[in-house]
Amino acid sequence: MSPQQAERRAAELRTLLHHHAHRYYVLDAPEIPDAEYDRLFAELQAIEEAHPALRTPDSPTQRVLGRVLEGLAPVRHVVPMLSIQTETDTTAAGAAAFDARVRRELELPADAPPVEYAAELKFDGLAISLRYEAGVLVLGATRGDGETGEDVTQNLRTIGQVPLRLDTPHPPPVLEVRGEVYMRRDHFERLNERQRARGERTYINPRNTAAGAVRQLDPAMTASRPLSFFAYGVGDVRGWTFLDRPAPTHGELLDALAALGLPVSGERRVVRGAEGLVAFHRDIEARRDALPFDIDGVVYKVNSLELQRRLGFKTREPRWAVAHKYPAQEQVTVLRGIDVQVGRTGKLTPVAKLEPVFVGGTTVSNATLHNVFELRRKGVRIGDRVIVRRAGDVIPEVVGRVVNGAPGTPARPRHPYVPNFHMPRRCPVCGSDVLREKGGIDHRCTGGLFCAAQRKQALLHFAGRRAMDIEGLGDKLVDQLVDGGLIRTLPELYKLGVGKLAALDRMADRSAANLVAALEKSKKTTLARFLYALGIRHVGEATAKDLARHFGAMDRIMAAGVDELLEVNDVGPVVAASIHAFFAQPHNREVVEQLRAAGITWDEHEGAAAAAGAAALPLAGKTLVLTGTLPTLSRDEAKELIEAAGGKVAGSVSKKTHYVVAGSEAGSKLDRARELGVPVLDEAGLRQLLAGGVS
Ligand code: IVH
Repeated sequence: MSPQQAERRAAELRTLLHHHAHRYYVLDAPEIPDAEYDRLFAELQAIEEAHPALRTPDSPTQRVLGRVLEGLAPVRHVVPMLSIQTETDTTAAGAAAFDARVRRELELPADAPPVEYAAELKFDGLAISLRYEAGVLVLGATRGDGETGEDVTQNLRTIGQVPLRLDTPHPPPVLEVRGEVYMRRDHFERLNERQRARGERTYINPRNTAAGAVRQLDPAMTASRPLSFFAYGVGDVRGWTFLDRPAPTHGELLDALAALGLPVSGERRVVRGAEGLVAFHRDIEARRDALPFDIDGVVYKVNSLELQRRLGFKTREPRWAVAHKYPAQEQVTVLRGIDVQVGRTGKLTPVAKLEPVFVGGTTVSNATLHNVFELRRKGVRIGDRVIVRRAGDVIPEVVGRVVNGAPGTPARPRHPYVPNFHMPRRCPVCGSDVLREKGGIDHRCTGGLFCAAQRKQALLHFAGRRAMDIEGLGDKLVDQLVDGGLIRTLPELYKLGVGKLAALDRMADRSAANLVAALEKSKKTTLARFLYALGIRHVGEATAKDLARHFGAMDRIMAAGVDELLEVNDVGPVVAASIHAFFAQPHNREVVEQLRAAGITWDEHEGAAAAAGAAALPLAGKTLVLTGTLPTLSRDEAKELIEAAGGKVAGSVSKKTHYVVAGSEAGSKLDRARELGVPVLDEAGLRQLLAGGVS
């Protein structure tokens, strides 16, 4: 790069970075994901490194960003809110680099014992400071530029997890708690579902949504968003007896904050040396997706407060802490095209075909666009640069498009939005008509089992672990069976012989024999599993069990009128109509007969009479909801035990819920239970109940 080119590019990058920093920090409306911002920032840093003369005082690399919003009163931080240095090496080796730096700066000899560190999560939310005077919350502020933040006291007061008063009879005169406001992923998903249901715009990610909610001018708005909080440090502190103890540590400081009633994450550990840091980094990385909230890395802090003091600060960052990031969960890529996928019930889903991009730990080339209305709302067109998100076990999705992303591209307002993708009128798989239900947002193929796509999904559902449980019948095999014309209807599955199967691609005699054995084994089943396996719309596992329990026999279910179906526990008009319509179709009745003829059997009973017997069971007529992780029972095991005791497990808490069984990291369901006054049990309580103990 010539000096002239470097100068031009640096100026370009400064302008872009200022623009994006303003969108991000001041407007809470970023147009590009963090990783993209970081990339531009790193590019400018590299140019300035190579050409120091280009480093202007106003370069975004030279100051902490963020500005005070008009409308919220400025707050001067008595103790500045610093940022942390980021370790650039995202591999585990980055942890060792930090340890080496600390040892060098402390001038420790090579044979000195390992340094002790407090390792914790780097929460992805908004940094805030809570000032307690004589134990009472008097001020809540954002970080702002580190020196001056914004007064958001009223907003923070609406967050249930922020104590209004410290839980101690002898509070310190001043205690400023520093921490992060964030939004749990499940809360975020629910918020977006609500937005979708109302036809309103969806939020891009939990972090921006949380940040935006804290910086609202209207506290009622903040209150309507499900926000959470974790404390991770302190600012201005006066007269706190904790600090008088000998050799206080950061780990103990967090314990002390927790004892005062502040939420402190349990995912933290005191470790020794580089090895301890690396192990923590690995452990959290492996469990990142299973955490209920987003993190963008981990943070290491020298544990001894005395050593922290000795290490001190380098301009705006402490030398005793470092942020060690993980690969980003959002990336920019190009939307190459849109495919339409047909699901089991015929629902058409637009699927983004992307320029492959590494995000959230894997290479993603397909992502869901949910439905055309969502696509319209986001203003996405084929050819756009889009933001792809993959976090937790949520399937990858396109969350928005990049406005102003490419350096030098002018803003491209999209008014009016002219889409360049339309839902097909005919099913792309079978050519049947596509219908959109009145008032609904989904498009559906009307082909039913005539449609190969629906047939494949129906087969996979039928074979599923919770349905007929046919081991070894996966999507690759189903593709071959359907595409090769070997299977047109479910019953034909049981006519497959080793000979036909072994002729298939990648199918050895041995695996063919295994599949035939699995098919044979699946024939002995239960009425509930069989009903569920049929894939009747709106008949999930719970409904299938209710139907089986109520009627006891297949013929009674097939013959039931809508009124009789409505008598079943939890079956409403939509479900009853769906079941009735399914069995009104002669071809569906035929499928049931052929499956029975193929040898599928289950035990039947008297239904209502058996239900009377079930009343003697300890949980007869009781509905329970499970939430969080139980110490010894898996979700499925707990469910089985409850059902065996005559109880039902529901997915959400309502006034009709009899008990909520809560484990660790229990979420909104627990809140809802408390709200409604539903009794909450732990695993021990559940076991007592199962044994017929409490009631
Ligand atoms: S400590 C003096 N601990 O990361 C050190 N920060 O640049 C002050 N963050 O926006 C920060 N999790 O809000 C610390 N466990 C954690 C954190 C954490 C997230 C955020 C913080 C700030 C940024 C630091």
